[in-house]
Amino acid sequence: MKAIFYTEFGPADILQLGQRPKPVPKAGQVLVRVAAAVNPIDRRLRAGELQNYFTRQWPIIPGWDFSGRIEEVGADVSGWQVGDDVVGLAFSWFLSGGTYGEYVAVDATAIALKPQNISFVEGAVLPLVSLTAWQALVEYCAVKPGQSVLIQAGAGGLGSVAVSLAKYLGAQVYTTTRAKNFDYVTARGADYPIDYTAQDPVTVILQQQPDGLDAVLASLESDNEVRAAIQLVKSGGAVAYMNNDPPDMPEIAAKNIRAEFLHNRPDGACLGKIMTLYAQGKLMLPEIEVMPLEAAARAHKRSESWGTRGKIALHIQDI
Ligand SMILES: NC(=O)c1ccc[n+]([C@@H]2O[C@H](COP(=O)([O-])OP(=O)(O)OC[C@H]3O[C@@H](n4cnc5c(N)ncnc54)[C@H](OP(=O)(O)O)[C@@H]3O)[C@@H](O)[C@H]2O)c1
Repeated sequence: MKAIFYTEFGPADILQLGQRPKPVPKAGQVLVRVAAAVNPIDRRLRAGELQNYFTRQWPIIPGWDFSGRIEEVGADVSGWQVGDDVVGLAFSWFLSGGTYGEYVAVDATAIALKPQNISFVEGAVLPLVSLTAWQALVEYCAVKPGQSVLIQAGAGGLGSVAVSLAKYLGAQVYTTTRAKNFDYVTARGADYPIDYTAQDPVTVILQQQPDGLDAVLASLESDNEVRAAIQLVKSGGAVAYMNNDPPDMPEIAAKNIRAEFLHNRPDGACLGKIMTLYAQGKLMLPEIEVMPLEAAARAHKRSESWGTRGKIALHIQDI
């Protein structure tokens, strides 16, 4: 099959387009014809980050996010048929066969039906960021109506869907983004966009919420942003860190703050519930830039710029 792969760690240009063996579904898996999406984790793994957490078999086809049509059903799989249109998160701690290829073999527990009014491209960009946002805001932070939440980087892939989810949960939504993206984030439900290039978000938010916020989705990596999340959350509040363990700050214990590094978890049942919310228009889709599979290196470079809005999808084939 046609796929993008790499044979060593390195910059985006090590991504090659070529032929790789079509995967064979193991027991408990399905084989899916794929449309894929790009996530920052793809380029970080390609660059050699997080090596201690993953095992690998080279060459590696990157990518975890996909939508597509089931082509084959492995042994011990029930409830899925050839021809079903699905979305899923092909996460594994063992890296080898990802979603930047014509087919992927994936655990049947990691997929959900793709609603008919969601296209394959839209379906491909939703699983990773939506599951992450849900697991952070609903499961970990337990956001309730009327609570206040900061979503860092609201114009990014994760931020776009997290803003929409926080709004759906009934929260007052603060987010940081450049002014040119204010319309974009307010359309998705942000009540208080803050231009982090013009104002200090901690000062602005604490003027409005002197006791602090109920929850922060902390997806930025700089020391300042990592510490700001703790400074901003009120006693008994929660910080979901997306990139790092909580910083060593006495306020965490003193204010009884819950703070943890969370990693997205494949969960087909949860993804199914989330897809229904998109299909019903209760959650808003991110903006999507579609690139051909052949442009995967360019897509990784764009992701490395930290300046993309919404998501990048890779068009692999018409399904
Ligand atoms: N733990 C997990 O399971 C998990 C899951 C998903 C993502 N993540 C991590 O979360 C981070 C965000 O992911 P993503 O997919 O949203 O990335 P992304 O789409 O590449 O984020 C790009 C966005 O970041 C914004 N941005 C850049 N610097 C900013 C700053 N200082 N303040 C506010 N916004 C800023 C940009 O908006 P402007 O143009 O407005 O600056 C741009 O829209 C990544 O580090 C990723 O690895 C972790």
